[in-house]
Amino acid sequence: MGFLYRKLLRKFFFTFDPETVHDAVIKGVRTLQSIGAARLAIELIARVKDRPVTVAGIRFKNPIGLAAGFDKNCEVPLMLAKLGFGFLEMGTITFRAQNGNPRPRVFRLGAHRGIINRMGFNNVGAYEASRRLEKLGPVGVPLGINIGKNADCSLEDAPKNYLDTLKVVYPFCDYVALNISSPNTLQLRELHEKDRLARLLDPVLDFINGANMKKPLFVKIAPELDDSHLEELVAAAVERGLGLIATNTTVRREHLPARWRSYEGGLSGLPLRTISNEMLKKVSELADGRVPLIGVGGVSDGPSAAEKFSLGADLVQIYSGLIYEGPFLVRDILTYLEKLPWKRVPAPGK
Ligand SMILES: Cc1cc2nc3c(=O)[nH]c(=O)nc-3n(C[C@H](O)[C@H](O)[C@H](O)COP(=O)(O)O)c2cc1C
Repeated sequence: MGFLYRKLLRKFFFTFDPETVHDAVIKGVRTLQSIGAARLAIELIARVKDRPVTVAGIRFKNPIGLAAGFDKNCEVPLMLAKLGFGFLEMGTITFRAQNGNPRPRVFRLGAHRGIINRMGFNNVGAYEASRRLEKLGPVGVPLGINIGKNADCSLEDAPKNYLDTLKVVYPFCDYVALNISSPNTLQLRELHEKDRLARLLDPVLDFINGANMKKPLFVKIAPELDDSHLEELVAAAVERGLGLIATNTTVRREHLPARWRSYEGGLSGLPLRTISNEMLKKVSELADGRVPLIGVGGVSDGPSAAEKFSLGADLVQIYSGLIYEGPFLVRDILTYLEKLPWKRVPAPGK
């Protein structure tokens, strides 16, 4: 299946603008999603053996999930679940709908197997996203919702903006991911700073603790954090019982050929792999088993997923790998993990 995608579909898709292809694929999949027989067919083709893991109190069908940004507007989670993902992260959702940055804003790096995007949280807003999830009903795998701040909201007002979004989407997810690390929203990454982060986290945690059902909170971090900020952040996660997602895309370019260095935005895929792995390793050493960790960045096959687990990830997410390797990548990764000794990946039921 992967071979067919790479030889035929990918060649065709890659002749068009990346975002145009993405929008068309989402539209097509949305149509298929409404047809029961199509959902069943995909489930049969992509069928994977369950490999349940329990992380942050949630039982995941398997430890391979979809990263945020692929289904920003909660359009096709039923179909994505049928592809074999153990969990899905929707979003980033902001409180109010917004258009994001002008197009073109997504670029494929071809042979380098990377993507640069500067989308800027284009999304339908918290109410419309929630309405869609409510209409779709249960997805069949745990669902995370990744939330961010509106572009026109100042850093001072960010805590209220995040909280407003959280209140709307909370009933429709199994965990919440706070995105403080997209490089495409001005000053967003300043929320990593200790006092700003505390101002953001405290009201969010007050809300979660006061809710009927307590759901885990993850914070998605940047791969460029310096060591002192990272230590503070991991300490905050331990103290407050948070999970961490390492990492978002990178703004580093020094390892890319000159022609790509002037492209603004976040870099993902293979060129991010080593950078995000270094961050995951540091986070894992500092957290020392006290923080649930999701590893993301540059996973494109079984070995690169296994590498994240060996560095300390409890769960792994993918995005760019899907664009280059095709939709059956999750099945291929799980087939590979199945053959590994138990110690290298979380044991079933952990
Ligand atoms: C086109 C594109 C859009 C993205 N949008 C988001 C987003 O809205 N929110 C987010 O937290 N991460 C977003 N990401 C980052 C991914 O979730 C992931 O952290 C990053 O791409 C690294 O994983 P990968 O190398 O497997 O792609 C986006 C990535 C891409 C390529």
